[in-house]
Amino acid sequence: LPRFYHEKVIDHFNNPRNVGSFDKNDPAVGTGLVGAPACGDVMKLQIKVDDTTGEILDACFKTFGCGSAIASSSVATEWVKGKQMEEVLTIKNTEIAKHLSLPPVKLHCSMLAEDAIKAAVKDYQTKRAKSSGDSETEPVEQAAKV
Ligand code: FES
Repeated sequence: LPRFYHEKVIDHFNNPRNVGSFDKNDPAVGTGLVGAPACGDVMKLQIKVDDTTGEILDACFKTFGCGSAIASSSVATEWVKGKQMEEVLTIKNTEIAKHLSLPPVKLHCSMLAEDAIKAAVKDYQTKRAKSSGDSETEPVEQAAKV
């Protein structure tokens, strides 16, 4: 590996945390799938959310991409665990890049992780709104029939 890689990148690249997948149809799961147009790399990040507290209980990722993207997604899954959804929306790619000491040309790799977190939260919230919407309209429909 080129020398400009910080040891933290190499550590996360060699021992990525939380690699894997959750069932995307699980109502507690939010899936963020994002791609970097610059290089074609793809990152999937998933969160498992406690429906009542909004806490992110677990997270995992699969990244088809460069070492910095893998390291960024690994860090992202570690950072979101145990946090509230609103909290993780404030995670910036620059913080991840700083943590990993990424060189400027690798900033877009950490951007993938920021985007993936946001996309996962959005997916969860959309799914949740849909399912609660369904259960709310049901009694109305029944009432209308009577
Ligand atoms: Fe594309 Fe790193 S080179 S994500």
